[in-house]
Amino acid sequence: MKIDVLTLFPGMFTNFLEESMVKIARDKKALEVRLTDIRDYAFNKHRSVDDYPYGGGAGMVLKPEPLYEAITAVKDESNVPVIYFTPQGKPLTQKIIRSYASANHLILLCGHYKEIDQRIRDSLVTAEYSIGDYVLSGGELPAMVFIDAVARLQEGVLNDSESAATDSHENGLLGAPHYTRPPEFRGMKVPEVLLSGNHAKIADWRRKKAIEKTTKIRPELLDEKK
Ligand code: ADE
Repeated sequence: MKIDVLTLFPGMFTNFLEESMVKIARDKKALEVRLTDIRDYAFNKHRSVDDYPYGGGAGMVLKPEPLYEAITAVKDESNVPVIYFTPQGKPLTQKIIRSYASANHLILLCGHYKEIDQRIRDSLVTAEYSIGDYVLSGGELPAMVFIDAVARLQEGVLNDSESAATDSHENGLLGAPHYTRPPEFRGMKVPEVLLSGNHAKIADWRRKKAIEKTTKIRPELLDEKK
């Protein structure tokens, strides 16, 4: 998978790309991430990429021309998804991440300032996602969230093929509690069933705990599952 990131702050990605699963995915050539500085496509001598909003109001708007040039420069085929991160987007979910996991090429567009010029959204952006109901200063962190989530789904990145399938949200539920050695820690014991070696019983217990936890913390997920 090749991911083009269009950003005004490419430096934010430097350490991120060198650590953990994303690094493993890149080392295994399962993922290639290319960073493009939108400012390189600014066309005036001040290299400005933003301007005041028509109609007034607070905040600056990213101008359409540099965005258009940057997107078309990295877009090698007409059907490459162009994903824009904004608090106005659809909530990003594991299901959406899965829908992109086998794409060959994706373009991630990070906004900054107020928003980007609507005409780019209307003509070039194919999907808009939000990573939660709060406002960040830009789309860089959401883009990193997206890259991390798709990277770990690339073939050969997780060494245990089971481990993605049993993650929270993969079956519409939050995951069951996990324990490791020692069997007793500061008086707190690991639930007996997990030490029993009875796999059917363990699976039942995990499912029960997953439903309990989801009911308590995210009851709406159970409605969505129906
Ligand atoms: N840009 C700013 N805030 C955001 C959010 N919550 N999700 C996606 N993109 C954003």
